[in-house]
Amino acid sequence: MNRHTGRIAFVTGAASGIGLAIAERLLGDGARVAMADVDGQRLADEAKRLGPETFAVETDVRNEASVIAAFDRAETAFGPVDLMVNNAGVIDVGPVVETALADWRRLMAVNVDGVFLGSREAARRMIADGKSGSIINAASGAAKRGVGQISGYCASKAAVMVFSQALALELAPHRIRVNCYAPGHIETPFWEGIAGGFARATGKPPSDVLEMFRASVPWGRFGTPAEVAATVSWLASSEAEYINGQTIAMNGAEFVG
Ligand SMILES: NC(=O)c1ccc[n+]([C@@H]2O[C@H](COP(=O)([O-])OP(=O)(O)OC[C@H]3O[C@@H](n4cnc5c(N)ncnc54)[C@H](O)[C@@H]3O)[C@@H](O)[C@H]2O)c1
Repeated sequence: MNRHTGRIAFVTGAASGIGLAIAERLLGDGARVAMADVDGQRLADEAKRLGPETFAVETDVRNEASVIAAFDRAETAFGPVDLMVNNAGVIDVGPVVETALADWRRLMAVNVDGVFLGSREAARRMIADGKSGSIINAASGAAKRGVGQISGYCASKAAVMVFSQALALELAPHRIRVNCYAPGHIETPFWEGIAGGFARATGKPPSDVLEMFRASVPWGRFGTPAEVAATVSWLASSEAEYINGQTIAMNGAEFVG
């Protein structure tokens, strides 16, 4: 399918998991893809594997200068960005009473500042170019309800979701859509940290923690990065033109409502 032929995408957190699957899917659907990640080596390896229609740009989404420079480099390589996917994210597991302010801020810097900086840069350039576009941000089921032991993560993803709603209202006159995807439990390296953190908090082995999360999904399994990427590609396409300011969940009914 070539629904994104001629389009330029910019995907953060593209060296691993969901971001890598999104980059691969958008590429398969015809886009050229700037892949951004703080892990430069892994990013370079994956971009090389995916081929010449990708461009690896080492980026720290917490850092304003790094994000602006990454857009400059991507634009020089491929041209102005049409599709922005702010996917990079981190999680911390632990009780609020034991959380250091520095750790809280580190998480917010990646999950919230990163989405703000990436969205702002994409929107500024799309507006300046007078072209329509799509900004898609990584929320989570944790954006819609509190989950014990990951309070900062929940707060950060709720911030992403409501920020995206507000931005959709601001950018609609420019024909730029802003939406979120809200994965449930998706099989990626992200879960190594989650399983380890919940294992420490509960005293259970990480394998038991993973089984507990799997059992919480009525569909009976974790989702795959490719399943998230398929929805993101569709959401970025003209078929989804009338979807704006929304958060689309993919979670095997783990959370409904
Ligand atoms: N996996 C899940 O079950 C799940 C569920 C809900 C939401 N999400 C969200 O989906 C997104 C992707 O998660 P994933 O499971 O693929 O995680 P992952 O850990 O596999 O990949 C995250 C990527 O982000 C990169 N990254 C981290 N900090 C960065 C920074 N400062 N600048 C640039 N890149 C940075 C990492 O290097 C890594 O490549 C995240 O926002 C996450 O919160 C994931």
